[in-house]
Amino acid sequence: MTTFTAIKGFKDIMPDESPGWHRLETVAREVARRYDFKELRPPLAEKTEIFARGLGPATDVVEKEMYTLVDKGGEKITLRPEATAGLVRAVLEHHLADGGQAARLFCLGPMFRYERPQKGRLRQFHQLDVEVFGDPGPGVDAELLAWLTTFLAEIGLSELTIHLNSLGCPECRPAFRELLVNFFTERREALCPDCRRRLNINPLRIIDCKIDSCRQVAAGAPKILDHLCGECADHFKALKSLLDALELRYEINPNLVRGLDYYTRTAFEVVSGDLGAQSAVAGGGRYDGLCRELGGPDIPGIGFAAGLERLIMLLKDKAPSDQPGPDYYLALLHEAALPASFRLAAELRGQGLRVAADWRPGSLKSRLKRADKVAAAKVIMLGEDELKQGQAIVRDLATHQQMPLDLTPFLK
Ligand code: HAM
Repeated sequence: MTTFTAIKGFKDIMPDESPGWHRLETVAREVARRYDFKELRPPLAEKTEIFARGLGPATDVVEKEMYTLVDKGGEKITLRPEATAGLVRAVLEHHLADGGQAARLFCLGPMFRYERPQKGRLRQFHQLDVEVFGDPGPGVDAELLAWLTTFLAEIGLSELTIHLNSLGCPECRPAFRELLVNFFTERREALCPDCRRRLNINPLRIIDCKIDSCRQVAAGAPKILDHLCGECADHFKALKSLLDALELRYEINPNLVRGLDYYTRTAFEVVSGDLGAQSAVAGGGRYDGLCRELGGPDIPGIGFAAGLERLIMLLKDKAPSDQPGPDYYLALLHEAALPASFRLAAELRGQGLRVAADWRPGSLKSRLKRADKVAAAKVIMLGEDELKQGQAIVRDLATHQQMPLDLTPFLK
């Protein structure tokens, strides 16, 4: 008979990996609390139109990577490839940023993209996603970058640097786009087939192409930072001076363009040299036009998402997580001791202690071996003799000291 395996690009998070995940999630929730962000848990799927319109029809995600299906009612739905568009939908639907109030939200969970799986790239992966709606910045831009830096430092990745750029706005970007199209059209022959196709639909993405010949061409391309309108330039300048005041480390990267089309002004990424080709651990930016694009009022927005698998990979190289074993292993040596063992385990667990046990009686030798295997701190031995005497034996596995334990309360 064939046995089943998980879907390609979908991964089990194994029991020995879970503590690392809990740690990231706990730190994320704690930093969110301190920065006064609330958790909103949107559904894992949305109407396809939300992503198609929100992320931009010419993005790789929308063109090639969405898990889309038609449900039995004929509705076209998509497993979320990212969280921002769904959060915009939720904020608009529940009026969370109406009347000038800011909504400060985060969520944690799986995202789905039909990409070619490789190291650090999965088809189901997890993000910490953090967003602010209703605040035009630049103060909140700096605050979000501080949020991200604090989170990274507190999980143990303080050496990572933020790459920062501004992508302009609908005022200044069209003229810059025109400049780029002219520049790349003159050098069309040197571009890869993908970039030739992008030339007229999404020329900004050419700047970000990883193919050598495209990179060489792109190195001489006009830089958006030289073509920002007055308001975008002021925003960027103010953001930089706030980051300097916070003593946050960042590098200006005029070649940073993001893979999703909703960005305006501030754009940033955190990359690590230790991850190979999939080097971005977090990315984000401002999306002042997205709420309007999805049918709502003009509510500015900014946010970021960090890829949890990539963070776990970086942390694995640092410190192997030592999981402590249970406080007690209950060594059941005779069936007759089962009821007393059960009551004793319930009492200890009620006190908040961690108790491991096998409920089939076994020999002392096999049970001690098992206690060692699960790395218990102490073993409680309970067999026929102990029942008769009304005392179990507790052995400390580190010191080998033994102590009697009164069984009277557990014998009925
Ligand atoms: P993104 O850059 O597409 O942005 O993804 C953010 C992070 O998710 C990446 O830096 C990476 O760590 C992780 N990631 C993306 N794709 C994969 C994959 N296939 N496998 C493993 N990890 C992956 C967004 O998703 C935006 N929604 C971020 C944002 C929030 N912008 C504003 N608000």
